Amino acid sequence: MEHLNQILEVCKKIKGFHNMVNKTQSDPNIDNYEVYAYKIIVELIQKLNNSGRTDEVKQLYLDIDKYVPEKNKKLKNALLNEYEIAQGITFLKSFPRHIQLVTTLQCNLNCIMCGDKKENVFISDKYLNDLIEIMPYLQFLTLRGGEVFYDKRIGRIIDESYKNGVKLSIVTNALLLDDVLINKLMYSDVALVCSVDSPFKETYESIRVGAKFDTLIENLKKIRSARKSKNFLVINMVVMRRNYNEIEDMLYFAKEYGFDLVTLCPIEGNTESSDENIFENNLDNSLVQKIADRREYFEKIANKLGIKLDNNLPCNVKYCGAKNINNISEENIEGGIDKKQETIILNNKQNEFISQEKNDNKLFCYAPFRQMFQPIDIYSCKPLCRCPVGNDEQNKNIVFEKQENIVLSSWNSNDMVFYRKNILMHKYERCSNVCLNAAQDTFEGKRILLWEVR
Ligand SMILES: C[S@@+](CC[C@H](N)C(=O)[O-])C[C@H]1O[C@@H](n2cnc3c(N)ncnc32)[C@H](O)[C@@H]1O
Ligand code: SF4
Ligand code: SF4
Repeated sequence: MEHLNQILEVCKKIKGFHNMVNKTQSDPNIDNYEVYAYKIIVELIQKLNNSGRTDEVKQLYLDIDKYVPEKNKKLKNALLNEYEIAQGITFLKSFPRHIQLVTTLQCNLNCIMCGDKKENVFISDKYLNDLIEIMPYLQFLTLRGGEVFYDKRIGRIIDESYKNGVKLSIVTNALLLDDVLINKLMYSDVALVCSVDSPFKETYESIRVGAKFDTLIENLKKIRSARKSKNFLVINMVVMRRNYNEIEDMLYFAKEYGFDLVTLCPIEGNTESSDENIFENNLDNSLVQKIADRREYFEKIANKLGIKLDNNLPCNVKYCGAKNINNISEENIEGGIDKKQETIILNNKQNEFISQEKNDNKLFCYAPFRQMFQPIDIYSCKPLCRCPVGNDEQNKNIVFEKQENIVLSSWNSNDMVFYRKNILMHKYERCSNVCLNAAQDTFEGKRILLWEVR
């Protein structure tokens, strides 16, 4: 414990964080002092970086790293990672702290909004072994497919994550679960993100083609009875034209089945029936605004029910996605459409922030430095799944320096380094307009990776 006090004493001297640290040292209600202290340290150093205080980050690292025991690989890695960000390094010695991994392209459904290929392809055993090798350094692992539960090795991934204290989340359609799997997931404290786009059979089955609503309900009931208080259950609802007016019912549905959080995501890309994507195609801006106007109302309902709501729908028609920007009509932008892109930049709050940050060491996005999205093609990794894939032939399939461990080769692949360099130079040509137009408070690229190891 002595080393923790030494670290916290250093942290206390940092402007703006004195009270936070003092509270940690004096609060008798904090039952796991060590975990709490780590949480404060990791949060603090990230907040310093996020606010452009890079010199303080460097000094803090040099002052505290020596007190962190070698065996605490996760904390050492998180600190080194922030130190490298503060130095503007693009080929990182620190390992990824969060990996989002596509384990397979195989899927049992054919959802109307899903552009993913459905193929009988799985990550290799070598990739899996290499991933397990770096788990002692990893804070978060998110698995998604296709449908993750097609992979028979899922049990091993759950066990190894548990053993290595990695906070594991699985995104699933929840239809392939059985009693054994459900009990294992709940015991291992896996955060389960169930994709349910409607609380009503007819809409649900019309979106999730091939799914049976009755099977979903059976499985959700099993999860509800197996869940423990430590478990975290999420519903992810993709909002589109045919279900936008079911959001409130979804909150009640989530409460009924014991979910902790409902995430609302705008549909991205196109569907066969072209009018479903109301967010990107500038089809019905009055509808988008109507949904935006109900934000507070949904928040109130969620509060009343005691569940959390993560509303990623645009809070204003201006914050819609890329295609909306290209088609945006004059009345939606003050200043007209003559110089469309520039006008957007002038009118967009996020971009006002971009020009400010150039002067104060802040980065627009920290995702390329802290985390990695790994598609099934191991050399096409990128910071988050929404980042456009590199189409630059020179970049593709080349890694900067091949390492024994393929996860680490991917981490420092040309594509990842490209994103890091461009973000450092405040160049966003390859960045998604969804990011450039995101409201700052919900922008994933700035998310603090909390000390939430299991
Ligand atoms: C591609 S799926 C893979 C995991 C799993 N098969 C499932 O459906 O949960 C990952 C998540 O993306 C969501 N999704 C699929 N198509 C989408 C789209 N066009 N726009 C936004 N989210 C989408 C799904 O609902 C799901 O929550
Ligand atoms: S279940 Fe998931 S991966 Fe499969 S089609 Fe639906 S959204 Fe796509
Ligand atoms: S701003 Fe968006 S597209 Fe660009 S690196 Fe960050 S997450 Fe990726």
